Amino acid sequence: MPLGTGCPKSSKSFVDWYFPLQTSTFPDLPRRALVTGASRGIGKAIAHALAQAGYDVALIGRSLDGLRSVQQELTDYGVVAKAYAVDLAEMEGLASRLAEVLADFGSLSVVVNNAGMGYTGALATMPLADWQRVMDLNLTSVFQCIQAVLPVLRQAGGGTIVNISSVAAQSAFPDWGAYSVSKAALASLSRVLAVEERAHGIRVVTVSPGAVNTSLWDTDTVQADFDRSAMLTPEVVAHTILHTILLPPEAVIEDLTLMPSGGAL
Ligand SMILES: NC(=O)c1ccc[n+]([C@@H]2O[C@H](COP(=O)([O-])OP(=O)(O)OC[C@H]3O[C@@H](n4cnc5c(N)ncnc54)[C@H](OP(=O)(O)O)[C@@H]3O)[C@@H](O)[C@H]2O)c1
Repeated sequence: MPLGTGCPKSSKSFVDWYFPLQTSTFPDLPRRALVTGASRGIGKAIAHALAQAGYDVALIGRSLDGLRSVQQELTDYGVVAKAYAVDLAEMEGLASRLAEVLADFGSLSVVVNNAGMGYTGALATMPLADWQRVMDLNLTSVFQCIQAVLPVLRQAGGGTIVNISSVAAQSAFPDWGAYSVSKAALASLSRVLAVEERAHGIRVVTVSPGAVNTSLWDTDTVQADFDRSAMLTPEVVAHTILHTILLPPEAVIEDLTLMPSGGAL
């Protein structure tokens, strides 16, 4: 859904509505963002929302083909978009690969740590290698990204880091143990980062969505049969996140839980 639609009972478009916020947002910071997991789903929708708000965007994911198609769509908004193939679950060499990406893309004021995987399986039987992969991607790769981007954000004079956790971090769902643990630990990491980086003008937003209708539900590590039509759309999640990013520097939404209005599925 384009940003100009979906504002019921208002004659203003979404962009008109946000324009006053945009002009007051960190006026001296570069309007440049990095989004992980940007080839599809929530990350792609966030990349679109940022580009429509005038941000240049660095797109990270494994599939260069998927990223290049998003890159093409973003350039149609008149911003710069660049695609970087990085497997964030491969810890070996990840720090140096991220350093290469940042050296190529340059300055940043917004980072969205979105890449992640779903996983279902009982704690009693799940293989250790599967547990490790969930933790590597959903938690440790975010830690690595944070360490890579902090010097860039501090040099810019501040910015916003958005970390995508999940409502599964707050509630217990059977078979979602590893996923829940990874997202709860990520939420904790995010909250500590918020207090550590405040003095550097860096805001940290922890976002915990309920079910969102994306390809995560089609991946082979997830066995679930939920009503997809009752889920949030990636665009609603992206617009909500954009709002947190466009707030003026004196305000921050530190913890955001966004649920389908029908509740947990
Ligand atoms: N969908 C939901 O219901 C829901 C709810 C709450 C929270 N979340 C969280 O929201 C985030 C995005 O989820 P989504 O639903 O949009 O998932 P998705 O549709 O499966 O998209 C995942 C994205 O992450 C990338 N990715 C996956 N593994 C990667 C790796 N090893 N290295 C680099 N990139 C990788 C994928 O691209 P490639 O495959 O090309 O690498 C893709 O762009 C995740 O952190 C998820 O846990 C989702």
